[in-house]
Amino acid sequence: MKKIVINTGGGDAPGLNAVIRALVLSAIQRGWEVYGSRFGYMGLIDYSNLIHLDRNAVRGITHLGGTILGTTNKGDPFSYPVKTSGGFQMEDLSSKVVDNFNKFGFDALIAIGGDGSLRIAHKFYELGIPVIGVPKTIDNDLSNTVITFGFDTAVTTATEALDKLHSTAEAHERVMVVEVMGRYAGWIALNSGVSATADVILIPEIPFDIEKVCQKIMDRELHGRHFGIVVVAEGATPKGGTMSTTSEEVEVGRQEVHLGGIAEKVAQQIHQITGKDCRSIVLGHLQRGGSPTTWDRLIALRFGAAAVRLVEQETFGVMVALAPPTIKAVPLKEAVERTKLVPLDSDTVLTARELGICLGD
Ligand code: F6P
Repeated sequence: MKKIVINTGGGDAPGLNAVIRALVLSAIQRGWEVYGSRFGYMGLIDYSNLIHLDRNAVRGITHLGGTILGTTNKGDPFSYPVKTSGGFQMEDLSSKVVDNFNKFGFDALIAIGGDGSLRIAHKFYELGIPVIGVPKTIDNDLSNTVITFGFDTAVTTATEALDKLHSTAEAHERVMVVEVMGRYAGWIALNSGVSATADVILIPEIPFDIEKVCQKIMDRELHGRHFGIVVVAEGATPKGGTMSTTSEEVEVGRQEVHLGGIAEKVAQQIHQITGKDCRSIVLGHLQRGGSPTTWDRLIALRFGAAAVRLVEQETFGVMVALAPPTIKAVPLKEAVERTKLVPLDSDTVLTARELGICLGD
């Protein structure tokens, strides 16, 4: 009989609930007990956020977006924002998490997260907690796995949005500049842009030259195509420039810097240089929502079942990863060490170029 605790951390991604269901049912099948720590590590800091997960708790959730456990990207126990009379103070609550993990008699922690959350999970592994990671992120930028769950749904959402923007762009003879997520890696921009026949795709891996972008728009004009679709990843930068960010006060006294605003800048520049009517749109968190695609559901369920198999084998400090046709275990350390960027010689990049899509270079 084993007792495991699971959590979801960082930005949500479609498929989280499918992983949770697979983890819970696979564990119950073995006669084990599963607990969920709400909002990342909250349940291991404050017991009221620790919930027992039985068969009923995971009934009918495979197709649901979000996470029944809640999530946070501000819940790093190694640097936890604690409210003080004068504002906020960062405190290290990691030993509390380790103590509570042991006090509850847990045999394993399964952390479902992206690079940030899995880096935290790895630190707990180094502190002696038997950890297994499950790779989640719509950005698909985790190393050592062919894909992360959530990515396919995000690309599908972005592709559908681009298809819709196509008709309005053509009707008004406008250039639509569409910002999609992708902090350091342009996987969503590239895959949705190629699939939706965008004219220009700008990704963080290829700093762009706005003149090249405008050349493409003007070439289209010459060929009687008076509209254009430009897809830009939120982390794309102009040659020699920096990422576009905005700063906002999320709580009294606490400022946060968010990535975003590049589409608006690109639209303004295209308008200035070509004189074309331009509009920008930010797809934002729409890409993180909704029901997971069949692919994401299946891969999420497979990841969850595989993670429980690893607990059974007592293989810890690893992340489940897709290595077709199977799911394998890769060292957690390696998975979080390096961001998986779009390889510039990848087949999709070559395909984009051969289709005449401008990549800004
Ligand atoms: O999941 C990663 C991500 O989607 C990034 O592409 C994006 O910058 C970030 O999340 C935004 O997250 P939030 O608004 O929740 O902080």
